[in-house]
Amino acid sequence: MSAAGTKPAPPCVLVIFGAGGDLTKRLVMPALYNLAGAGLLDQGLKIIGVDHVANTDDGWRQALTETMRSFTEDKTGEFHPDAIDETAWEWISQRLHYVQGDFERPETYATLSGHVSGNAIFYLAVAARFFGPVVEGLAASGLLAEGETGFRRVIIEKPFGADLPSAQALNARILKLADESQYYRIDHFLGKETVQSILAMRFANGMFEPMWRREYIDHVEITAAETVGVEQRGGFYEPTGALRDMVPNHMFQLLSVVAMEPPDSLAAEAVRSEKAKLLQAVRPIQPADAVRGQYSAGRLLDREVVGYRQEPHVSPESRTETYLALKLTIDNWRWAGVPFYIRTGKRMASRKTEIAVYYKEAPYQMFRHTSVAGLAANVLRLQIDPVPGAKMQYNVKVPGPVMNIDAVHTTLRYSDFFAEKPNVGYETLIYDCMIGDATLFQRADNIEAGWMAVEPLLAAFARGEGTPELYSAGSEGPAGADALLASGGHRWSSLAAE
Ligand code: BG6
Repeated sequence: MSAAGTKPAPPCVLVIFGAGGDLTKRLVMPALYNLAGAGLLDQGLKIIGVDHVANTDDGWRQALTETMRSFTEDKTGEFHPDAIDETAWEWISQRLHYVQGDFERPETYATLSGHVSGNAIFYLAVAARFFGPVVEGLAASGLLAEGETGFRRVIIEKPFGADLPSAQALNARILKLADESQYYRIDHFLGKETVQSILAMRFANGMFEPMWRREYIDHVEITAAETVGVEQRGGFYEPTGALRDMVPNHMFQLLSVVAMEPPDSLAAEAVRSEKAKLLQAVRPIQPADAVRGQYSAGRLLDREVVGYRQEPHVSPESRTETYLALKLTIDNWRWAGVPFYIRTGKRMASRKTEIAVYYKEAPYQMFRHTSVAGLAANVLRLQIDPVPGAKMQYNVKVPGPVMNIDAVHTTLRYSDFFAEKPNVGYETLIYDCMIGDATLFQRADNIEAGWMAVEPLLAAFARGEGTPELYSAGSEGPAGADALLASGGHRWSSLAAE
């Protein structure tokens, strides 16, 4: 994993399939620009965009320059600088080249061969149906052959498969053509600063890990609540839903970093093996432990918003879930009997991505004769979005002559200690791929273990079970999700903005 102050990555050719796509504009280019600004890219970097639309080097440069400038006006995205550093952008811009080509035609790869020599990274910022064909096109033209001349790596975006069989088939298809070590399967949650810092929190301190287990922890709650709806992505979202979109990938990455055993080192294989073990220990989730929801019209952030079924490209009878709550069981020594609750949803009351670790109560109720009705749980909140930090809740004596106890909390914001670095979440991932560090990328077995855990749910949903319960946009989710936790004597943390 890269660290601050590290040296520039080695020179390479970065080939981006999907040059005209949203991901390239919104995240990949801003990340490259930030890396250039931080001096982490080599002078020898060359960036080739590939897409089917006719364009030229200048045309592509021009379009991207306009998009980059537009980010200074639009504060809603991940990248919203006050101004563009023209030197850093010029550094990137002059390295941009465009190749027009159909991803499924051999001529595209023949043309590319003329542009690629030495180290190369092929970034598949394309729709999932092209993952197989692009890898096959690259392999057939010899572009994946690593030799003395340099490395050849492939970055694959999500969704990696739509269920276990399709993920296994895609892995088998690509692993016939290049070695596992050449594939970098992205999950952008792993590029988030705080997700990485959970590893540091757990394993760089002596005070958390001894208590990070069933003897002390009552339950763990993992939340990824968004205020955005499906926006213009109805076509993608309808057959996908919250389960496929968020759970086996993003939510399970959060689960892995919080629940895996300490790896022997931070080497990619050590970390990824512990993640695989953890995910393999997740008991396949049964429909009784899941609650699906779908947002209806409501009021959010002071405006009226439509329901999911009224969104563009969404069926008025859609049964796709935009919310999912799950109760997970981890069958291993450390977590036996500790429920892990997961929830993710769109159009929720606030944006909050957080892991809350609820500790067991003190073993002996020494304060039971005081006026205290019941002590609040100790809770450690690892806050990922929107404000990275951590919050700890504990009980203290209320000042005064009477022994009274109340809960207080301490809050830590990373920005209070460290200067904020411009970051869209892809900088570390791109840099790490350039230096050959796969720690933050998913190995084939990680992906398959994630799908395996959700297979019973996908099967039940496909049979038409578990009709999504409606929840109003701007609310905390469907009532059934509260009942899911109440059955274990628990309650969700409030989503109220802090
Ligand atoms: C994407 C999903 O992978 O992650 C989106 O496809 C979701 O539906 C997004 O909104 C959430 O990411 P973040 O970084 O905004 O929490």
